[in-house]
Amino acid sequence: MAPFEAIDSLSPIVPFKQAFTELLIPEDHVSTRPQDTFYVDSNTVLRPHTSAHQNELMRAGHRAFLCTGDVYRRDTIDATHYPVFHQMEGVKIYGPDAAAALVPGASREAAVEACVADLKGDLEGMVRAIFGDVEVRWVEAYFPFTDPSLELEIYFNHEWLEVLGCGMVHRDLMNNVGLGDHHGYAFGLGLERLAMVLFQIPDIRLFWSDDPRFISQFSGGANSRFKPYSSFPACYKDITFWLTPEFHENDFFALVRTVAGDLVEDVTLVDEFVHPKHGKQSHCYRINYRSMDRSLTNAEVDVLQEEVRRLATERLGVELR
Ligand code: PHE
Repeated sequence: MAPFEAIDSLSPIVPFKQAFTELLIPEDHVSTRPQDTFYVDSNTVLRPHTSAHQNELMRAGHRAFLCTGDVYRRDTIDATHYPVFHQMEGVKIYGPDAAAALVPGASREAAVEACVADLKGDLEGMVRAIFGDVEVRWVEAYFPFTDPSLELEIYFNHEWLEVLGCGMVHRDLMNNVGLGDHHGYAFGLGLERLAMVLFQIPDIRLFWSDDPRFISQFSGGANSRFKPYSSFPACYKDITFWLTPEFHENDFFALVRTVAGDLVEDVTLVDEFVHPKHGKQSHCYRINYRSMDRSLTNAEVDVLQEEVRRLATERLGVELR
């Protein structure tokens, strides 16, 4: 098998068209909304996935590569979501001959089928190298830039876990990069999520912690289960407000992140209410403040909560209750 070239220093700031249009993602797709994607300006975004580099790398002549980097998404706030995380994108291109060589003299359909089989073999080999001899299953999926599209799941720690999305690079995309007579597969995996499962790391913020109790466990490429150390106390604060018609949850989460940074562990919607008379909708969110490396004082949490309340009114126009 051709070795994969490792590419990991591409800028995360990319043109909109590279992140979406060239991947056949419609311009009005939900993922393009400013509630989901970070915009640098109207034509430029922080890449929401490493797929943003598929086109340029294929055009530049790369035929088998692993492109790794930080990716950015606005999302919910909890132990597994953080506005920045890492993905690894893999792409492997088969020339017209290579595809035919998988099944000599094959039709186009048979060549695609053979490439899919090769893709499955490669990725099953990869997950077994990472997770050991696990049971795997393939699930049909949808991505605009692959066809067919699949997800690989593994049975790990007594549950089925989605590990990656993949598929054959879409024909239109292959044509656009001048590889119309080639075949290719692509896959993408989220690195923190896999590491969390593999090492039983309970909170994604730990990857950003300087705490030697965390760092020391993984120095020297240690490959073992995380030994938890005592966590600091949580501090819960509720905020309740009447929504505006434009209210979008991710805007509220972004605001909480802006105020509290890494000191927020999760935000959950604990109550929803529609006023029987005027039909206005109200949400109550419980914010869990907790630091990964020290005890927070009630006074400092009060300051954060006050700021969240102020900005919610000022920026989102919601009415506090
Ligand atoms: N970019 C997709 C995601 O972030 C993953 C993916 C990569 C799917 C390559 C198919 C092929 O979810």
